[in-house]
Amino acid sequence: MFAAQAIAALTARELSSYQHLHPASAQLAQRSTRHWQGGVPFQWMRDWGLPFPLFVRSARGATLIDVDGQAYDDFCLGDTGAMFGHSPEPVARALAAQAAGGLTAMLPGERVGALGAALAARFGLPCWQLTQSASDANREALRWARAITARRDILVFNGCYHGAVDETHVRLGERGTQPRAGLRGMPFDVTAHTRVVEFNDLAALAGALADGEVAAVLCEPAMTNMGVVLPEPGFHAQLRRLTRQHGTVLIIDETHTLSAGPGGCTRRDGLEPDFLVCGKAIAGGMPCGVYGFTDEARSRIEALAPGGTDAHSGLGTTLAANLLAVVALEACLSEVMTDAAYGHMEAQALRLEQGLQAVLERRALRWQVQRVGARVELGFGARPPCNGGEAAAALQPELERALHLYLLNRGVLLTPFHNMMLLSPETDAGAVARLLARLDAALGELAA
Ligand SMILES: Cc1ncc(COP(=O)(O)O)c(C=O)c1O
Repeated sequence: MFAAQAIAALTARELSSYQHLHPASAQLAQRSTRHWQGGVPFQWMRDWGLPFPLFVRSARGATLIDVDGQAYDDFCLGDTGAMFGHSPEPVARALAAQAAGGLTAMLPGERVGALGAALAARFGLPCWQLTQSASDANREALRWARAITARRDILVFNGCYHGAVDETHVRLGERGTQPRAGLRGMPFDVTAHTRVVEFNDLAALAGALADGEVAAVLCEPAMTNMGVVLPEPGFHAQLRRLTRQHGTVLIIDETHTLSAGPGGCTRRDGLEPDFLVCGKAIAGGMPCGVYGFTDEARSRIEALAPGGTDAHSGLGTTLAANLLAVVALEACLSEVMTDAAYGHMEAQALRLEQGLQAVLERRALRWQVQRVGARVELGFGARPPCNGGEAAAALQPELERALHLYLLNRGVLLTPFHNMMLLSPETDAGAVARLLARLDAALGELAA
């Protein structure tokens, strides 16, 4: 395809141009090294493959402005947290109104009644809890699943990511479940109670559930964390049938697939999870995770501590469901995540998908484009991956880095992990056209 030398040369040129274009970021980076580990307050901020981080001055709608005053069409959108645009007006307004009236109280805000009903109506599950992140929501859903089934093991799909949940940091290796490379400081064997099979592999799934020892399957409805892997026709129906047959709780993590539509893939595709988890964008970018569950799960949970409180269940964090998160979540659900917003996101995503396909055709590249609603993914494999193993094999980190750098230096921001492009209600056709033109130019340079 492209010569390694051409990729390396483009990368070197773009790295030097990045340094030249961002003197203010360079200065702030210099200043930050002493007191922040790795020069940043959060380690993922180093993962952009840049000589030093890009420092943000402001972000609004689908545009981000750096401290050097350069504007970017933002298709990363905070790696999904800002899926509905930066600072959606209704969320900003609700936050401003609440800010002077209490931030956290460890008591429910007056809007939680309406909020519970809004979550139930949107996702079709009757009972809810809030957390501070999707990671926390996944952790709690897994804990409840274990508690109500009195089983320890869980099952995830190869290539998954469900947040900072220790026992999901696994991969499928030649000898079965393996710890993910790079884990630090794990005090126990993360493979001890986790089984891994490939997505779309129903025979392996049936085998792994057969002994009746698996408390929960935790999965995304379409995998999104190594590129996109779509479910094959009938996969979800069989997954549901098998989990019911073996008494295993089905937890569907919609954190990224909220891009599929107003109720995620669950509502769009009529899925029937026992637990549904979401986070990141659900409160417009304010830290908030949610998980919902069926009446049956609720009865089983309540049977564990009849009539009592659960202060020592080991679940929950003090700031969960704080007053600010509650108003942000309600504003996002009722005024931001509207059918009209999703209509716009989907239309722009379709425009981008078709535009990418046209670029690939023009450049005679046998790559492929996948889409989950407003989330578009360019994959370097010759055919769409059908599982995490195939998706991993198609990754090309050097090429990815060269393309991302090229785009960033020309005002287009992609998420640093694989080639995800997210379309917000504020992303317009001009931004899509700029992305396509710049990607086409980068591919042209690599070919030359
Ligand atoms: C599918 C999925 N679930 C959960 C999470 C965790 O989200 P957070 O890091 O906000 O806790 C992520 C993060 O990328 C994710 O991709």
